[in-house]
Parts: sequence; C-alpha cells; structure tokens
Amino acid sequence: MKNKIVIAIILSGLTALLFALKKGVFDQKEAVYAALKIPDIVDYNFHIKPILSDKCYTCHGPDATKRKANLRLDTEEEAYRELRENPGHFAIVSGKPNKSELYQRIISEDEALLMPPAEAKLFLNGS
Ligand code: HEC
Repeated sequence: MKNKIVIAIILSGLTALLFALKKGVFDQKEAVYAALKIPDIVDYNFHIKPILSDKCYTCHGPDATKRKANLRLDTEEEAYRELRENPGHFAIVSGKPNKSELYQRIISEDEALLMPPAEAKLFLNGS
C-alpha cells in the first residue's frame, strides 16, 4: 500500500516535470536565440545597426561627451578606420573577423576585454 502511494507521488511529479518541459518553463534564453535562423540576406540597417545602437552607441556612438576609446561605430568611415588608440588595428576589417577588434572584443572570454563591458550590463544574447 505504502509503495503504491510512493509510486503515485513519483509519477505525478514526473508528469508535472514533463508538462513543465513541454511548456518551455526551463528554456534558457540562449537556447531560444541559438534556434533562431541566420537570415539568408543580412541587412545592415535591419539586422546589425539595431544591435550596435542598443549595445554599443552609448560609448561608441554620436555623443562625443560619452565616447570611449575615441571609437565611433555609428559611421562607416569611423568604424573602418585605423583605431585611434590602437594604431595598426581596426574595429572592422571586411571579411576578416580575426583581424577585426570589434569581433574579437565581443567573443572574448577575458572580462577585461569583453564588449560591452560587464559593468554596462548590456548583453549580446538578446536580453
Ligand atoms: C559602457 C561603455 C561601453 C559600451 C556600451 C561598449 N564599449 Fe567598447 N569600449 C569601452 C571602453 C571604456 C573601451 C576602452 C577600454 C578597452 O579597450 O577595453 C572600449 C574599447 C572598445 C574597443 C577597442 C578600441 C581600441 O582602440 O582598441 C572596441 C573594438 C570596442 N570597444 C567595441 C565595442 C562594441 C562592438 C560594443 C558593443 C557591442 C561596445 N564596445 C560597447 C566602453 C564601452
């Protein structure tokens, strides 16, 4: 008798768990983003600029008083020019992510290099 009760409790627990899983209760945000498809055609204004604008322009945008590292990412000319504070390096080198400081900074596992900086509490995972 006691065993049956225990089994019933375990089964109802499992049912609740399955139900929660099906409802996506435990889904991580990253999983949602990982599942998003990369569009066939990446459009700068539609796909890229909103990210730069939301996550980078506070410090690398049009407001010169707030600009950091003397780096602007809001104009093509500035985004592609040699870094003012890092001669010989570039934020963006077309088709060469390994030479693009911008790319290196957003994938860095070193918190001291990672952009946006941790204290800005801006994340590139969609949150
Ligand atoms: C809260 C302010 C802040 C935000 C937001 C921010 N940055 Fe930065 N960024 C800095 C500071 C400060 C530096 C200079 C210190 C350093 O090199 O880490 C810097 C440096 C950089 C550099 C290197 C510049 C050089 O001359 O070497 C790159 C590239 C960069 N940021 C890209 C980005 C990108 C891309 C984003 C958005 C995804 C971003 N940053 C968001 C503050 C910010």
